[in-house]
Amino acid sequence: MTNDSREQWTSKFGFILASIGSAVGLGSIWRFPFVTGENGGGSFVLIYLLCVLFLGLPVLLSEIVLGRSTQRNPVGALRLQGPGTFWFLGGYIGILATGIILAFYSTVGGWTLFYTWQSILGNLGGLSIGEAETRFTAFISDPVIPVLWQALFMILTMGICLFGLQNGIERTNKFLMPMLGILLSILVIRSITLPGAMEGVRFILYPDWSDVSFTTIFEALGMAFFSLSVGAGTMITYGSYLSKKESIPSAVGNVVVFSTLVSLAAGLAIFPAVFSLGYEPSAGPPLVFITLTAVFAQMPAGGLFAVLFFFLLSMAALTSSISLLEVPLRYFEDEHNLSRQKGTILIGGLIFLLGIASTLSFSTWSHVKGIAGLPIFESMDFVASNVLLPLGGLVIIIFSAWKWGMHQVLEALRGEDGNRLAGEGFWGFVARWITPVLILAVFVFQVLSN
Ligand code: PFF
Repeated sequence: MTNDSREQWTSKFGFILASIGSAVGLGSIWRFPFVTGENGGGSFVLIYLLCVLFLGLPVLLSEIVLGRSTQRNPVGALRLQGPGTFWFLGGYIGILATGIILAFYSTVGGWTLFYTWQSILGNLGGLSIGEAETRFTAFISDPVIPVLWQALFMILTMGICLFGLQNGIERTNKFLMPMLGILLSILVIRSITLPGAMEGVRFILYPDWSDVSFTTIFEALGMAFFSLSVGAGTMITYGSYLSKKESIPSAVGNVVVFSTLVSLAAGLAIFPAVFSLGYEPSAGPPLVFITLTAVFAQMPAGGLFAVLFFFLLSMAALTSSISLLEVPLRYFEDEHNLSRQKGTILIGGLIFLLGIASTLSFSTWSHVKGIAGLPIFESMDFVASNVLLPLGGLVIIIFSAWKWGMHQVLEALRGEDGNRLAGEGFWGFVARWITPVLILAVFVFQVLSN
């Protein structure tokens, strides 16, 4: 397939918004707050920020550079730059990871749509925390309803991808991301102005080192990869649509800064409200669906804020799920000449089937155990987020910094004028030594301790 026929982002702005759209999702708004809550708040946030900077950022840069310079999918990109070697197998890690992530992601995506609808109908008003929990449990343990909402989530994802890059993905992000920024700002202001909210602000901003263990560091690494969408080839794919004229460092800077800000803002929208109304911050995965529902029920004009919040969460999930589906779509389009229409239906359909298993692990299949004795949903999350993403990230960083060569990466980063970039030497050192060694160390520790 010639690269001339490939679509490109209409502008660097479109690329930045789509990449932020991919990064900001359930990971930032649903997962980040509860993982932070379970891991002691501020100290976890600090370790997370370090992981973003020294592990996430170098991999993100490498992915975008690799994508843009080859204009290929992850497998094709690694094959082109490492001909005759086995590095391309790393691309398959990404394709597998995106498929598995989208499968369990669509379970929660369906929940967010259901909660948006329920809040629009006003069905969540006046619930105590106990009632909110009963509602949530009754919903997820139903064998049919959550699958239908998941199907709707997948249909929306597939529908957008079907329209292609500019008309589907870019347009959706250009519309939804600014809206998301506005909604989130409203929610943060509401939350931090509640009486007693400062305790929640303290919780995420002040480190408490007594809660930090090695597991915390591993969680932070997984979180950094998941929330920046790195390690799965998403950014190779999105980077492959970026014109060679655009400068990468400023785009990457925007993506990292904005995605991290959104995660922190999500924490600031949630914890002050949770503390203000006297709930536990460490409620785990149901934090958003149970605790927040009870929080909204007690807040002045809470019904309206509930609609805004769950709508925001659904849209954030959607802009990430389209990036997840785009990876296998692009791969099959590039490497196997599968048309976008056929690919969307076939691959989207297959992922949906896998996703049904993840949804049913809360009801009919709750007794089925997968990896390490975990239920299906948690097994998929564990394999993809804690194993495949760090592994994919490791392959990409070692390939870029050692095999393809740091000078190639830097040259691509410098852009057309070829001028040296500030901090080139430092980041080159980080990418060659710090990032791979740290990922490997955390990874080996995790495997040994299991
Ligand atoms: N970054 C997304 C989130 O935080 O919800 C999830 C994600 C998207 C992970 C794309 C990995 C990926 F390749």
